[in-house]
Amino acid sequence: MSTAETSATRYGGIAVALHWIIAVCLLVSIILGLIIGDVEESASTERVLAIHKSVGITIFVLMLVRLAWRLTHRTPPLPASMPTYQRALAALTHALLYLTLLVMPLVGYVAVAARGRETQFFGLFDVPQMAPLSRMLSQNATMVHVYGQYVIYALLAAHIGAAFFHHFVLRDDVLARMLPRRSPEKNAPWTTF
Ligand code: HEM
Ligand code: HEM
Repeated sequence: MSTAETSATRYGGIAVALHWIIAVCLLVSIILGLIIGDVEESASTERVLAIHKSVGITIFVLMLVRLAWRLTHRTPPLPASMPTYQRALAALTHALLYLTLLVMPLVGYVAVAARGRETQFFGLFDVPQMAPLSRMLSQNATMVHVYGQYVIYALLAAHIGAAFFHHFVLRDDVLARMLPRRSPEKNAPWTTF
């Protein structure tokens, strides 16, 4: 296993960039998804759906890259004082986040493709039609997609709650090591005066 990207105490640049780019994409895709779910179908909801689908596919591709990164790199060790059950909960939440962020775009795609509708990636090209045409498959995939959002909300509440708990209550470096590194000049004493 390589440690080139992740130092002993913090996540490396690629892991941090992927974490925050995916977090922003997820927020955008949830907001756009809720807009689609909330308003009557129209030309503008079609446009919102097109962006929602493209951002969702971006998340899928970035999650595959992230999974490959994760399987080939070590993560920094958690604080030694952290009890085993908390380590297990953190590992479980992270694994479920990986799983749901791959399954949500997949079932979203199947919901659309099984209905015979095309999916374009930001108007650049068509995503190949890879699902059999089936009304039932489309309905089931839509149901998983719509209810899947609540799994994501629950996981994010636990995840973000834990990050804040570490930072503000335990006051350890668990949140800091997933934040972009400040440039060495900014930390250097000669820049402070
Ligand atoms: C991680 C990625 C994604 C997330 C978190 C996500 C989330 C959501 C959410 C929250 C909704 C609103 C559901 C509701 O309350 O009605 C929605 C709707 C929808 N999404 Fe996604 N989505 C993602 C990716 C995709 C992708 C890649 C596609 C298709 C290629 C897609 C297609 C749809 C469709 C068609 C709807 C409307 C469903 C309906 O109400 O009939 N989504 N999505
Ligand atoms: C909003 C979407 C988010 C998603 C999908 C997400 C997902 C993930 C995943 C899958 C990991 C595990 C990384 C790995 O080891 O492979 C992780 C780590 C982490 N995330 Fe998030 N995250 C999100 C938002 C946030 C936010 C808002 C915070 C802070 C408030 C945060 C703080 C952290 C921290 C501190 C870690 C490292 C935990 C450790 O050291 O083990 N995340 N995140």
